[in-house]
Amino acid sequence: MAFTQRDIISIRDFSKSDIENILKLAEKMEPVARSQEKCNILEGKLLGNLFYEPSTRTRLSFEAAMQRLGGGVIGFAEAGVSSATKGENLNDTVRIVAEYTDALVIRHKMEGTARFVADLVDVPVINAGDGAGQHPTQTLLDLYTMKRILGNIDDLHVALVGDLKYGRTVHSLAYALAMFEVKMSFVSPEELRMPREILHDLSNSGVYVNETANIHDVLDQVDVLYVTRIQKERFPDPKEYSKIKGAYLINSKLLNGSRAIVMHPLPRVDEISHDVDDTPYGKYFEQAFYGVPVRMALLKSLIK
Ligand code: NCD
Repeated sequence: MAFTQRDIISIRDFSKSDIENILKLAEKMEPVARSQEKCNILEGKLLGNLFYEPSTRTRLSFEAAMQRLGGGVIGFAEAGVSSATKGENLNDTVRIVAEYTDALVIRHKMEGTARFVADLVDVPVINAGDGAGQHPTQTLLDLYTMKRILGNIDDLHVALVGDLKYGRTVHSLAYALAMFEVKMSFVSPEELRMPREILHDLSNSGVYVNETANIHDVLDQVDVLYVTRIQKERFPDPKEYSKIKGAYLINSKLLNGSRAIVMHPLPRVDEISHDVDDTPYGKYFEQAFYGVPVRMALLKSLIK
């Protein structure tokens, strides 16, 4: 399907061939992302970055991607500096910024916000995370990382580890992986299991999923350990968070002898020890870089 002017709200809006096309284009973008080549294809275009929730990588890699392609970026990194503090509602703010720009990126704590915004404005809207909902562009860069480092996505066994209940990255990633010939293992404390409805959708698509609370059950079988942060800010009761925090600690001793690479959308808190960073296992910094070429591919495809 053509990408121009499309909204990117859920990874389920993509077909497998849509994903593959973006990943191929991202590979062509890598020299530009590394500043080895120039490309001004989005010269004169403006991206509106509306971040109502904190972000480092997603916001800055969208900015880097847009600027590497010759375009510009306006927006805010926290609602506190926008007229939201004066009582302006989201509806008015996004309609105005859409008038100034050629595409919008939005992150918000409420699930469904990106879809709501997409219905209000004519420019393409990209969901950069809506509460515990989805984070589709993170998934594209996660898939790109697997393909780039391991050569393919088909035939991999991927373990999603940590907060599978509130983590939007793993919700999007699980749906995307189900389009490929993969095995998935879900490793989480009982309280943070993957939502039932997602498990149901995955089983309907015929993908093999194994659930466990014990990382040792899968450690010697998987190609990828995709580790996530326990999403403290989404717990209705802080006491529940304190009980579960620190549930998993991935360190180099644990990984010794495993063939798995370790990925993480970042930020990490204490779930991956720093002694993994410079080992052949730790791929999360490389993964964060791939956010730039992948978002370049997406912006180039979306903006008219
Ligand atoms: C993630 C997010 O915001 O969902 N971060 C990111 O975009 N790389 C993960 C997280 O906050 O734990």
